[in-house]
Amino acid sequence: MARKKIALIGSGNIGGVLAQLLAVRELGDILLFDILEGLPLGKSLDILETSSVAGFDADLQGTNDYADIKGADLVVVSAGLARKPGMSRDDLITTNSKVMHAVATAIREYAPDALVIVISNPLDVMVTICQKITGFPKQRVIGMAGVLDSSRFATFIALELNVSVKDVRALVLGGHGDDMVPLIRFANVSGIPVMELLEKKYGTARAEEVMASLVTRTRHAGGEIVGLLKTGSAFYSPAASVITMIEAIFKDQKRVLPVCALLEGEYGVDGYYVGVPCVIGANGVEQVIELALTSEERAMFDESVSHVKDLVDSLNL
Ligand code: 2OP
Repeated sequence: MARKKIALIGSGNIGGVLAQLLAVRELGDILLFDILEGLPLGKSLDILETSSVAGFDADLQGTNDYADIKGADLVVVSAGLARKPGMSRDDLITTNSKVMHAVATAIREYAPDALVIVISNPLDVMVTICQKITGFPKQRVIGMAGVLDSSRFATFIALELNVSVKDVRALVLGGHGDDMVPLIRFANVSGIPVMELLEKKYGTARAEEVMASLVTRTRHAGGEIVGLLKTGSAFYSPAASVITMIEAIFKDQKRVLPVCALLEGEYGVDGYYVGVPCVIGANGVEQVIELALTSEERAMFDESVSHVKDLVDSLNL
């Protein structure tokens, strides 16, 4: 069986880390694309030259020509600007929507059968543009955010409780903005509700304060990294999150992952991309799982969705 061809549109920090992770895990042959001359060629060659010591079989190539993505099974888009300190993801909308128009047009032309994962920000808008321009079925155009946001929430819970992060399950829904919705009710450590463990440790009142701080930190986790790096945004954790999605797709794992999916009636939302739990397998988004939200969760979800709607509608797509 031939290896999968994975095209990475954008060879910045995310593209580079993603290429290396894909290669080391032998998930396919990798093509790095960027409009910057030299960058994708240099990064792909550098990673290829680790293959002997790292011990992987994967072809890596770089290109400045969209035509080279021809035949890609999977395209991951991280192209566009990353935010700088003081910026919100929404501030990138003007520049990155132009980038996404060009990228999606090329995907439609050269990789019409590909499954597409979008990472660029503002995520909910970028994935919408990508789906509209490619015209691909909704199952095949997916946004990456929920896996990352949930991973951050799980990390903070594990740090707080001093337990292995491997045993922590956490779920974050909604748009990929500061009003995302970490679901406290579903957070658990090996099935034990996190609130129960926090209450044991701190008592009820303090437990609620601690959980509130974990939720706030999760919502602002992207900005926390931007503030520390000063020159760009997170890249290790977004790249690792995409790997989880790619493995679910290539290995047809039917994993239940929060991803940014096009809703057509689910959760009472019609025609907008929003982060919700989905079954991810060989066909991409194979099922949207609808949760019965409490009124409090519903209010937070609706607020996040209304923010996504305002942003998307501002573009008159
Ligand atoms: C983040 O949250 C890059 O949007 C991404 O860090």
